[in-house]
Amino acid sequence: MRNFISDSVQQLKPSGIRKYFDIAATMEDVISLGIGEPDFVTPEHIIEKGVAALRAGETHYTSNSGTQELREGIAAYIERLYGLHYNPDNQILVTVGVSEGFWLALKTVTNPGDEVLVPEPCFVSNAASVHMAGAVPVPVKTLVEDNFQVTGAMLEAAVTPRTKAILINYPNNPTGAVLSPERMLEIAAVAEKHDLVVISDEIYERLVYGIQYKSFAALPGMYDRTIVLSGMSKSFAMTGWRIGYAASTPEIMAGIRKLHQYLIMSAPTMSQVAALAALQDADEDVEAMRQQYDKRRQTIVAGFNELGLTCFEPRGAFYAFPNISASGMTDEQFCETLLQEEQVAMVPGNAFGESGRGFVRASYATSLENIEKALERLARFMQRHG
Ligand SMILES: Cc1ncc(COP(=O)(O)O)c(C=O)c1O
Repeated sequence: MRNFISDSVQQLKPSGIRKYFDIAATMEDVISLGIGEPDFVTPEHIIEKGVAALRAGETHYTSNSGTQELREGIAAYIERLYGLHYNPDNQILVTVGVSEGFWLALKTVTNPGDEVLVPEPCFVSNAASVHMAGAVPVPVKTLVEDNFQVTGAMLEAAVTPRTKAILINYPNNPTGAVLSPERMLEIAAVAEKHDLVVISDEIYERLVYGIQYKSFAALPGMYDRTIVLSGMSKSFAMTGWRIGYAASTPEIMAGIRKLHQYLIMSAPTMSQVAALAALQDADEDVEAMRQQYDKRRQTIVAGFNELGLTCFEPRGAFYAFPNISASGMTDEQFCETLLQEEQVAMVPGNAFGESGRGFVRASYATSLENIEKALERLARFMQRHG
């Protein structure tokens, strides 16, 4: 029999994160700093709304774009956060997480072979989504010296006549980097100069520490060339509900809607009801979780630095990204040896792109107690290997 698997699927590499979870799952007493999702359970009053929706018989499809109520709720939420106005009738679509949004956005704006600039280190799905959309991901390496913010010059150097879009994600997974206002303007200038679409993954927008977050679409001139992707997963501890959204111009959203309609039909109905409750009525929950993350962030960053694992200060999301060169190991050796010897799971930086080599991602979406225990184990480890 011939190989039934398409070239395109064969070319996709499995995510570099999974391997460590699979090993960790076979071991006992593992402290995982590997997970990329909130350890908190969805706030109770949001859960109740989802359950009540089911009990009330809301078990049917919704409109392709999502319920009118939720689209209005998303529009009001974006307006409240950033003063931006999107028409719920034709500028907002409810997705099955940002994960779906990536592909919808990329497929809508790229022709086969078009290039998409992907600053890295970045979330494992970014380059894969570009590839799955039939476009070509062009990695743009960022540096710890710039606090892992992509610069205008870096993007400019990667632009070719085939470049169509830039896929950015700040606050960033895996580095925790956010963009300074100057850097945002540099990116905007490149987008304008080369007439590019900016796809901005803002999923961690509410989880920032000591800074004011601004949507990329709020920059002068960017509203009409930005596709904002965001959702409920991280800020509201709702990963399992699978609700995100895309917002952009009516023209772009018409394209996105066609794809979503054939691919998904509509996002989960009971989850849409719960999502609306979250957007309207969970500011206190979000703030309480954010404050917990902030305490953990300070503990883990200080802990890494004390052990000689130099860690720049992440200002968003729930990841620290220390440099592990003091161990004399590669990031892969570091994670494997640490897991075997001390049962602490982290993810090698190169799982997020070449420029992540020499770093590891440690998620602090776990209890302070776990973080403190992990740091004790790490101290023993660094005594042997530092
Ligand atoms: C940067 C980033 N974007 C998107 C996602 C996926 O989010 P969703 O649950 O909305 O699909 C993740 C999940 O880890 C992420 O880290």
